[in-house]
Amino acid sequence: MYSKALLLALLPTAFGHIGLWHPSAYDFNGDGYTLVVPMSGLSFNQWWFHGNLAKKPTGAPMSLPAGGSVTVELACNKAYTSYGNQGDGRTACPTDVGSYHAGNPIDPNQIMGCGLAIAYKSNANDVKQEDFAIFSINTNCVRDLKTVFSVPAKMPACPGGKCICAWFWQGQSSANEMYMTGFDCNVTGASSTVAIGKPAPPKYCANGGCVTGPKQPLYWANSNPNVVFSGDYYQKPSYNSKWGFQNGAQNDIFSGGNSPPVSNPPSQQTSFISLTTTAPAAAATCAWAGHCKGAACATDNDCSDSLICSGSKCS
Ligand SMILES: *[C@@H]1O[C@H](CO)[C@@H](O)[C@H](O)[C@H]1NC(C)=O
Repeated sequence: MYSKALLLALLPTAFGHIGLWHPSAYDFNGDGYTLVVPMSGLSFNQWWFHGNLAKKPTGAPMSLPAGGSVTVELACNKAYTSYGNQGDGRTACPTDVGSYHAGNPIDPNQIMGCGLAIAYKSNANDVKQEDFAIFSINTNCVRDLKTVFSVPAKMPACPGGKCICAWFWQGQSSANEMYMTGFDCNVTGASSTVAIGKPAPPKYCANGGCVTGPKQPLYWANSNPNVVFSGDYYQKPSYNSKWGFQNGAQNDIFSGGNSPPVSNPPSQQTSFISLTTTAPAAAATCAWAGHCKGAACATDNDCSDSLICSGSKCS
């Protein structure tokens, strides 16, 4: 097992990514780093809740004030959050700009957004992929340690005073991989009792045909994907308008169900593809899983060890 000191020593290298840190998070009391590791080519049990379902939160659920906002801390290591002692109070990763997966220096065009999802169940073990609905988006994410999410005013109260939430993200300048930090949450100050509609899988829609209404998170790059990804670097699943997500509170999720665009056959709404063909590197082994020989990349920083990025592939 790595010591915390060793993990911190590794941070300035390519081993830098981002996670959500809060006492309500699953694995909040882990080694302070593993929580941020991106997920690629994993089995369902390995990626769902980052494999941390058994590592129950010790803190109270995160409060989500209906019609208000919640500020979460996103960082490449717990040490840089208010729960550690090495941060500057504003930077998500003071030691490694590569952790943002958005170029060096950070290129605003490579900031892809992140989202918060909620399931109206009180036991994380009961939550299924199709239960999560994205209720808030911050399209300027990840840049800052403290990231603000607006909470829809119509969010109803949670059953038994507790819901299950998760934070989702992916980078642009990175291999095909996704991030998920699960946490307990609780809607406070609720005035509406209308439930969130049944969330549908999002679709790439830069050319039109966006899924409207409640949407599931983007599950991809691992087993059980719910979205169709073309494999095009610039069409990666992302929490912005390219995939039908607008910045801020998702106020269109109480519609009692999504309304798929009429121009698309229903079969496309529910089709699933295996991503293994677009991520041949998943099978290759190296120190940084998912970033081995053959993995998609934009810069050398996206590739493990001494591998370089050549022709958008690590080699
Ligand atoms: C969740 O919020 C409701 C409404 O404010 C409150 O009554 C309940 O005690 C909260 N649950 C927890 C676990 O704090």
